[in-house]
Order: sequence, then structure tokens, then C-alpha cells
Amino acid sequence: MDKPVIRVGIIGAGFVGSALVQLLTDSSRHAALLDAATGSIELVGVAVRDGSKPRPGIPAGILTTDAEALSAREDLDVLVEVVGGIEPARAYIESALRNGVSVVTANKALMADSGTALAQLAHEHGADLFYEAAVGGGIPILRALRSSLAGERINRVMGIVNGTTNFILSKMTSEGSDYAVALAEAQALGYAESDPTADVEAYDAAAKVQILSSLAFGTELVGEEISREGITRVRSIDVEFARRAGYVIKLLGVAERVGESGISRRVHPAMVPVDHPLASVHGAMNAVFVEGARSGPLMWLGQGAGGEPTATAVLGDVLDAARNRVSGRHDVPFTVDDTLHSFPAGELSSVFYISIDVLDRPGVLAAVAGIFGSNGVSIQSMEQSGFGDEARLSFLTHLAKTSDVEATVGDLAQLESVDSIGACIRVIDGGGQ
Ligand SMILES: NC(=O)c1ccc[n+]([C@@H]2O[C@H](COP(=O)([O-])OP(=O)(O)OC[C@H]3O[C@@H](n4cnc5c(N)ncnc54)[C@H](OP(=O)(O)O)[C@@H]3O)[C@@H](O)[C@H]2O)c1
Repeated sequence: MDKPVIRVGIIGAGFVGSALVQLLTDSSRHAALLDAATGSIELVGVAVRDGSKPRPGIPAGILTTDAEALSAREDLDVLVEVVGGIEPARAYIESALRNGVSVVTANKALMADSGTALAQLAHEHGADLFYEAAVGGGIPILRALRSSLAGERINRVMGIVNGTTNFILSKMTSEGSDYAVALAEAQALGYAESDPTADVEAYDAAAKVQILSSLAFGTELVGEEISREGITRVRSIDVEFARRAGYVIKLLGVAERVGESGISRRVHPAMVPVDHPLASVHGAMNAVFVEGARSGPLMWLGQGAGGEPTATAVLGDVLDAARNRVSGRHDVPFTVDDTLHSFPAGELSSVFYISIDVLDRPGVLAAVAGIFGSNGVSIQSMEQSGFGDEARLSFLTHLAKTSDVEATVGDLAQLESVDSIGACIRVIDGGGQ
């Protein structure tokens, strides 16, 4: 019997798209791509923006600058969107789904913005919408949540899901570098963009938390704000304090249950105990740590970016979509659990590390301690360092409500003897959330 032919179009041939074309056109891999369940894969079109750039490895006959026309082709089985951004990527995806063409995308921003609606559109037209590469690049975490852990009650998902910020924090930890120096090195090595805002202010990580949360808990993918704090206020002195206290500072994306029906979703720098598996994730690597009620702790580690690792995850989705086409089925989207509600960020409790620059004069410590006390935040330990203009007080609190700690920080900032507030960082697994 002839194998069915699965016709694939790709929009975008940058880092990910060009690596995907290579994987699909590599003749030594044809046996793997041509399994009976998948059918044979035929690449019928690759759309780019700039038709004048050289495109080594992409057959000229299938190159086009008309992405709109490619996305509207009714003879496609699978359209891959690796352009990025919200528009026109969304329009291309909607156009394909309306024709019943399955879509594979690596676009976290778009999925976090309107994933629920796109998944519904796919379902209505009997098509698949897969986006494994949108979180953790080459790490197959979404399929694990969607399939292997489908029957598990997941209590918490915590991830280092942004390689740029992990590279910067790792440099600050291993070399004692200041934030600005580590950022400049990340930019020189191509790990950070010239405008690093999406990474260092945690927009990118927040989108990934939203996607992880939808599959782990059934929360909606609709661009609802999640609590977000980046790494720009982390200083080398905070990293050094953490080291002495037995912690490493990481930017963590967290989605977790609070009580029976609360979900907390947030991204923030956190002090992670050195013996926690996430503490040993260095450089640009990504990792996702999942705590299941019965499975216990699980962790996935790997390259969260890079053309080839990401294209590998995209290809896995293309083959899944191809198998579904051959067998005449499509995956149903994740189920939204409307009994869940967002737990207010201010109500969460944690141990906090707070660092403040103070004027070196008598009575300062008493005034500062008084403010902690009046806001109901009790101090576990305190360290005083530096002299004169460099004088600094660093505190670890006992378990405290986030809103009380925020009020403390606000009041401290008003004190005449406080020069500036440095970091205010949660301690993970010190109790609370
Ligand atoms: N790079 C990674 O490591 C990584 C990891 C995980 C997920 N992702 C996601 O994968 C997607 C692609 O990332 P990338 O790094 O490959 O991006 P990229 O290198 O910037 O490539 C984007 C591609 O899209 C094309 N393009 C842009 N606008 C277009 C338009 N209006 N119509 C047709 N083509 C258009 C560009 O064409 P020209 O070549 O003509 O400019 C380019 O080929 C993004 O959603 C990203 O978030 C990337």
C-alpha cells in the first residue's frame, strides 16, 4: 500500500526554521521520518520575509515571500509557524486552522496571549495545535504534562525557563560579576538581545509559566497578568549573601496549588537551597521541576534555546500531527478547570531576604527593626556589612505574608536613614510558597 503523503509548509527560516528544514531534508534521517504510521513527509513551501537573503539548504523552488498565501493553502496537512510575535503569526495560524490544517508553533508569546482560543479553533476544524518548543526549547516538558502526567494531581511546577537570565545569574554566582558586567557578556556571546527587556524583566518566563500552568492545572491561556519580577535589582552582594547562607539565586517561574482551589502563578528571583536540583542548573540551561501528589518530584533538564534543539522539539510535533492525519484523528485541547481561581499574590507566605543600604549612624538599626515589628514581620537573622556610604543591612525573615513584607519595604524606603532598598527575594522551600 502506498504511504500517505503529509504535506508540510514552514513560515520562518531563522534559527529554528532553517534547522527544521535541515532535519526534514536530511536524507540520512528519511527512514526515521517515513514510518508507516507517519506517512511520508513532503516539504512543499518555506516562507520568509526577505527574499534577497541567501538560504543555504532550502530548495529555491519551495521558497516564497508570500507567507499569507502559504498559510491559506488548502492542500497542506501541517503548517509550522516559526516567525514569532503576535501578528501576523496569529493570522497565519488562524488561516491554516480554518482550513483544517494542523499547526505546529514555537511561539510562547502568542500561545500565552491567545492559546485557549486557538486551541478551540483547531478543535472546531478537526486539526491539531502543538507547541512543545514554546517552553524549554528542546525539553519535551509539555508532552510529558499532557500525556505521561495526564492522570496525576500536580501540586507545583517550578522552572528555570529563561536561559539568558540563568546565564547572567550563573556568571554573577561563579565569578562574582556585577549584573551589568554579566549582562554585557551575555550580549557579547549572543545569549541576550541588544534590548534584553523581555528576558531580564521576565516577560518571556511569564509567558512560559502561563503555558505550563494551563497543562499542569487547566488554567486558561488568555494573557491574564501573572505576578512578574525580573532580575535587574539583583546585586552581586545579594548573590554573595545567598552563597554564605547556603543558597543560589535563580529566576524561577512558579505555578502551584494553594489550598483546594487556589493557583498562584508568578516569576521572581528566588533563593534556592544549594542541595535543591534546580540549584545546579547553570549557564543557559533550562530545567522544569514538577511535584506530583503520587509521582513525587520529577525534573527535566536541557537546552532551552538554540536552533537545533528547538527544531527537534518542533519536528516531534510535526510527526505527531502527521500520525494523527494518517489515522484521521486530532488531539482534544486541554480542559479548562473553571473551579480554580488566582490566589492573591499578597496573601502568599514565604521567608524573605531583604537588603537595604543605610546611613552609618547611631539608632538606625533600632528604627529599621521597629518597622519590621510594626508590620508584623519577624526577623530570623541579620547581617551588617560595610561602613560609611557603603553600610548595608541584610535580613532573613521568618515566614511572612508577602503584603506585610511589601508594606515593610515601603515604610523602610521612607526612613531618612535608609539610602536605598536593594533586593527583596523569596527563599524557596523555607516554608510557605
Ligand atoms: N531561537 C530559539 O532558540 C528559540 C527557542 C524556543 C522558541 N523559539 C521561538 O521560535 C520562533 C522563531 O524563533 P527564531 O529564533 O527562529 O527567530 P528568527 O531567527 O528571528 O527567525 C524568524 C523568521 O521569521 C521570518 N519572518 C519574520 N516575519 C515574517 C513575516 N511577516 N512573514 C514571513 N516570515 C517572516 C524571518 O524572515 P527573514 O529570514 O527574511 O528575516 C525569519 O526567517 C519564535 O516564536 C521564538 O520565540 C525560538
